[in-house]
Amino acid sequence: MIKDLQQRILKLKKEKDFCILAHSYMAQEIKEIADFTGDSYALAVKSKDVKQKNILMCGVRFMAETVKILAPEKTVYLSNPDAGCPMAEQMDKNLITVVKEQYPDYTVVAYINTTAALKTICDVCVTSSSAVEICKKLESDKILFIPDCNLGAFVEKQIPEKTFKLLNGGCPTHAKISEEQLLATMRKHPEAKVLVHPECKPLVVRHADYVGSTSGIINYAKESEDKEFIIGTEISIAEELQYLCPDKKFYPMSKDLICSNMKCTTLADVYNCLNGEFGEVIELDEEERLKAKHCIDEMIRLG
Ligand code: 13P
Ligand code: SF4
Repeated sequence: MIKDLQQRILKLKKEKDFCILAHSYMAQEIKEIADFTGDSYALAVKSKDVKQKNILMCGVRFMAETVKILAPEKTVYLSNPDAGCPMAEQMDKNLITVVKEQYPDYTVVAYINTTAALKTICDVCVTSSSAVEICKKLESDKILFIPDCNLGAFVEKQIPEKTFKLLNGGCPTHAKISEEQLLATMRKHPEAKVLVHPECKPLVVRHADYVGSTSGIINYAKESEDKEFIIGTEISIAEELQYLCPDKKFYPMSKDLICSNMKCTTLADVYNCLNGEFGEVIELDEEERLKAKHCIDEMIRLG
């Protein structure tokens, strides 16, 4: 049944000249029909050299906006218009304009999980895989890091020579995980290495053997000689790793680590979108796009 639908999607994709990009948190059956899967940094970079006329983003809204910012000549679709990222909507342009006035000499570093509108007033974007490297390379030693205070705290710890101002935003899915939950999982699997996404709370991150983006976690586990891992990010990564490395064991840090926003996109949505019956075409005002592009270009230049 799933295979039939996947076959029809692959046929339509070719006929209608689509490239499908899927974030690593998508369901396995979607990742199987995608042209490219990866973390948010890899997806952004990839969108610059897609050959097809149309791009279908299976992920959340800020990811589709990033593709449109970098590939304006393509028709970019978000496969499910309800797929937003709550963190990206926590802070808007008005709020950050006011905060910037209070910290006029700070460089504004925006996690890529922000709206295109907010990116227009930021200096540089980062992703979880590039944040430390980019903040280190910035000339400024004063950084206003938005919106994720957990990622910000992780970066701050790696760069003690710089001054950080963090705001109170973050990912509701990763922030749900408590230190107690992690310790309970560690007690059950005492041999397992702990791999954690930096969107988790510092009290969780401090127990990690490795901290990195979704792709970073996947690569670390694939290349490691260890055999057991506790995976501290969205549950789909533990699932994918179990497919990729059948001789190893992967335990989700908690069964609650499900991003309902990423999971609202289904294989049927992808099919209906290719058929022109669902999905949303991403449109951005050209002036806004160019301003937002500046901080993504800076991310790619420094990353
Ligand atoms: P990555 O940068 O690891 O892809 O993370 C994106 C995201 O939304 C994690 O919650
Ligand atoms: Fe947003 Fe968190 Fe979901 Fe990532 S996991 S898309 S940050 S809500």
